[in-house]
Amino acid sequence: MTTGNASPYKNHIGGQWVASASGRTYPVTNPARKNDVLGEFQTSTPDDALSAVDAAQNALPGWSQTPAPARAAFLFRALEILRERADDIARTITMEEGKPIADALGEVKRAMNIIEYSAGEGRRMFGYTTPSELPNTMAYTMRRPMGVVAIITPWNFPIAIPAWKIAPALICGNTLVFKPASATPLSAVKLMQVFHDAGLPPGVLNLITGPGGSVGNALVESPGVKAISFTGSTEIGTGIYTEGARRLKKVQCEMGGKNAVILLADADMEKAMGGIVQGAFGSTGQRCTATSRLIVEDSAYDHFMDELIERTSKLKIGDGLDPSVDISPLASQAQFDTVMEYIGVGAEEGATLAYGGHAVTGGEYDQGYYVEPTIFTDVQPHMRIAQEEIFGPVLTVFKASGLEEAIEIANDVKFGLSSSVYTKDLTRAFQYIDTVESGMVHVNAPTLGGEVHLPFGGLKESGVGQREQGTEAFDFFSEVITVYIDHAAEAGERAKFI
Ligand code: UN1
Repeated sequence: MTTGNASPYKNHIGGQWVASASGRTYPVTNPARKNDVLGEFQTSTPDDALSAVDAAQNALPGWSQTPAPARAAFLFRALEILRERADDIARTITMEEGKPIADALGEVKRAMNIIEYSAGEGRRMFGYTTPSELPNTMAYTMRRPMGVVAIITPWNFPIAIPAWKIAPALICGNTLVFKPASATPLSAVKLMQVFHDAGLPPGVLNLITGPGGSVGNALVESPGVKAISFTGSTEIGTGIYTEGARRLKKVQCEMGGKNAVILLADADMEKAMGGIVQGAFGSTGQRCTATSRLIVEDSAYDHFMDELIERTSKLKIGDGLDPSVDISPLASQAQFDTVMEYIGVGAEEGATLAYGGHAVTGGEYDQGYYVEPTIFTDVQPHMRIAQEEIFGPVLTVFKASGLEEAIEIANDVKFGLSSSVYTKDLTRAFQYIDTVESGMVHVNAPTLGGEVHLPFGGLKESGVGQREQGTEAFDFFSEVITVYIDHAAEAGERAKFI
């Protein structure tokens, strides 16, 4: 078995698995089988959070002074352990979050990729040298860790998102307190176990589970925490950014999306349909990069929509552990209620329900939070379903006379995370790339995904602070120090420097 920990699962503080001071635990269940309890987890308190911060502070001198290539050795070991446990951890993700097993395996792979990429940075960690304007003077920059960093992560990528933050933060020499979403603590425990088994010194990475309200707030407010990396809703992120800024902390928030695909009449049908169906309904629409709006050029509307509905009707709904399933349950009762509510709102607002729109019930479906993939047409930009993030398998469809109107609709939301255009026309593709308001722009590809060595993040209310991943991640998790050295034998030119 891969984890030395068992239910009731514990926090991990200062290298030890420890119970919360609250003496309380809470259950986590499988969204495909509501009655299956995966385990009991610590209901942590602000005091637990602060003891994790203390442990991280105690570990900071040793870890920050460990040479970066030596820090990398721990990450390379963690990479190998994660590789060995990939199947078990993917099953855990599916049973805890609900996503199809292939997506869960893909997620573990993405976690491995960032660990590998960050470990490689241990032998770079570049600053730069530049000529001084003075003689006999050297000027250069170097990186230092920020200190103790809080990592606050959502339930929809319970392994990959933590890894996107933990690996770059560790290689830069920080010590961490990791607070996963309360809905997915088992994946977090297993990730923690990987780093523990890789021999990471005690206190370098600490894990506390429990409610975001009290534990997350304690981390944001603690003077010991110097930086916060958060992924989650725009509402919570705004609060964290505001409270962090008041305390002059460095804060990075990766938040909501309302991502649009623009489908132009000349697009390749196969590419477009594959990308739109995957983007809208893959992971049951529960990703911040999901395609939630489709803007179709008028002249090809009927042709594309008939095909889209045909393909959507073929998607198989079921437990994510069945490898033939395309659409698995929503992650929780709360998610189910929100998605069903939005479907009701769309109908009330006068959009046409072109496909789906119901809970899936009967037999084993009654055990999980299943909703049909849902397509609304005749959507107007002012509607709530056109503006708000639904975070479920609901696609809203608009008509546009051409690219310009399509870009206007695409930009007419408060979010700006990801977007895509399908066209074979290079001129129109570049017009789109240059004007669409999103942090990640795709041409002839789904709105989803990203590679770990490229920055990930959004504009407008989708993100604030430095991007995750790419070299930007190392910038976020470092302080840059500027060094001037006057190596002249005698006092001289330096005195003239102003
Ligand atoms: C992806 O598109 O595969 O919370 C990743 C989210 C994003 C990650 C999406 N931070 O869904």
